[in-house]
Amino acid sequence: MDDLKELRKQFLLHLGRAEDSSQLQNLRSRYLGKKGEITGLLKSLTSMPPADRPAAGKEINELKDFIENQLNRHLQKIHSREIEGRIQKESIDVTLPGPGSEIGGRHPISLVLDEVIDIFISMGFGVEEGPEIELDFYNFEALNIPRDHPARDMQDTFYINDEVVMRTHTSPVQVRVMQQRKPPLRFIAPGKVYRCDADISHTPMFHQVEGLMVDTNITFANLKSVLESFLHSVFTPDTPVRFRPSYFPFTEPSAEVDIGCIFCKGSGCRICKTTGWIEILGSGMVNPKVFKMVGYNPRKYTGFAFGMGIERITMLKYGIDDIRLFYENDLRFLGQF
Ligand code: DAH
Repeated sequence: MDDLKELRKQFLLHLGRAEDSSQLQNLRSRYLGKKGEITGLLKSLTSMPPADRPAAGKEINELKDFIENQLNRHLQKIHSREIEGRIQKESIDVTLPGPGSEIGGRHPISLVLDEVIDIFISMGFGVEEGPEIELDFYNFEALNIPRDHPARDMQDTFYINDEVVMRTHTSPVQVRVMQQRKPPLRFIAPGKVYRCDADISHTPMFHQVEGLMVDTNITFANLKSVLESFLHSVFTPDTPVRFRPSYFPFTEPSAEVDIGCIFCKGSGCRICKTTGWIEILGSGMVNPKVFKMVGYNPRKYTGFAFGMGIERITMLKYGIDDIRLFYENDLRFLGQF
């Protein structure tokens, strides 16, 4: 009897010190396991006088139940404490700020393209489109650039086959629209164009905006005023503009248009090659040969046309010195617009 009391005291002492479920497991095997204290006691019953066995057996079993209950209760306590701890440790603080995601912005070329389109719309121009994979006929022949003519060298062309090219300019849209409609016409044709060329000021794909106005009595004065108004709108109203005689097969006469250098204000710098002027677009009065190609009577109708590169205008507007920056997708660059 005293042994059992002693064992019970000793067990409670151990139990009080057990701090986690693995220590409790140890206690369980120490007392209740195959070679445990209680098991040993039960076995020793056989060596007792038979008369004492029932009473002793009862006592031992009571202690066994007691130990088992205690162990279970304690195990539950420790379990919930352990779960509590894990919840504390692994919980997510929903009030912490997230890693954040940035809202995208518009590409500088899209911004300027839209601005250019808006300016022409405000002057009564419509907007037309044409295919980027174009027939040689529309890209060259109908624009008075025959096969084997040296004028083809002005543009480095991606040929798909003898009849099909990646359009080198937006001018073929002029021909497509004129074939389908009668004058009066007043529209621009923005879009992508392709040339086999790549350096600090050329990319194999770039953007142009073409313009065409055809009616009876359209003169060079109309060309001049429309383009001056446009340039004063995309740049500043005090930007100097000059028309310089030039050559394009599809216009006669032709003019290139320069603006006063934005960087040096005309005094001459590296960017304007010390001339004080920067070339900004090509233009001219539609060549009567082009009118004949589309079945217009050149005695009745006159018109002007122009074409400009959007990358170039964007570079001048924002002071960008390398065209390739537009297509490298560097967010440090793109984030500035
Ligand atoms: N298509 C010409 C080019 O890409 C630009 C151009 C010049 C278009 C004169 C025109 C024009 O419509 O009249 O270089």
